[in-house]
Amino acid sequence: MNSMKTTRQIGILLSGRGSNFEALADSIDAGRIPNARIALVISNREGAPGVEKAQKRGIPTKVMPSKGLEREAFDRQVAAALHDAHVELVCLAGYMRLLSPFFVSSFPGRILNIHPSLLPSFPGLEAQHQALTYGAKFSGCTVHFVDENLDAGPIILQSCVPIRDDDTAESLSHRILEEEHRIYTEAVCIVLEGRYRTEGRRVLINK
Ligand code: GRF
Repeated sequence: MNSMKTTRQIGILLSGRGSNFEALADSIDAGRIPNARIALVISNREGAPGVEKAQKRGIPTKVMPSKGLEREAFDRQVAAALHDAHVELVCLAGYMRLLSPFFVSSFPGRILNIHPSLLPSFPGLEAQHQALTYGAKFSGCTVHFVDENLDAGPIILQSCVPIRDDDTAESLSHRILEEEHRIYTEAVCIVLEGRYRTEGRRVLINK
């Protein structure tokens, strides 16, 4: 029997800046996510800064432009690339594209997303701006399992961030982002370790 723990292969899908990707990569490097590596970073947009950040770290990258492609046809290519890299957990990190049912069923219970609001409030774009202009007193972020609907799957972790009277969308985004980086790492650990069970939509974490 092999007593070595197998390394868990993570795939990242992103479209832009890539700070959540970097936070996960930092957590792996620091041993906060044990026995894991990022096997592949895929961007559906050319010129995404996240890709350059991955290249600098020596992490394999693929740029697969999605513009104009039919959803499932594109997702089949992405899923194939992830399978080729032996990815078992897919982390969306600012990935600006809805997933097809085909993609979701290719990685059952194995796709996570981070969203900068306390879902189900303020799904979609500019969630921090939405919370601010709505007049909410608290916002935050959510890590959830992904289904084919926008920002809708079962919630794994959330963190609450108070909204200050003098907040701008930028200042609020900045404080939420710090929490995003923290809880994404924690959620990835919980899922990789199988330290949870589900009851309907509820994700119950074993302490
Ligand atoms: C984050 O706010 C994340 O919650 C949302 O998109 C943004 C991506 O930022 N889904 P980054 O590319 O990870 O820096």
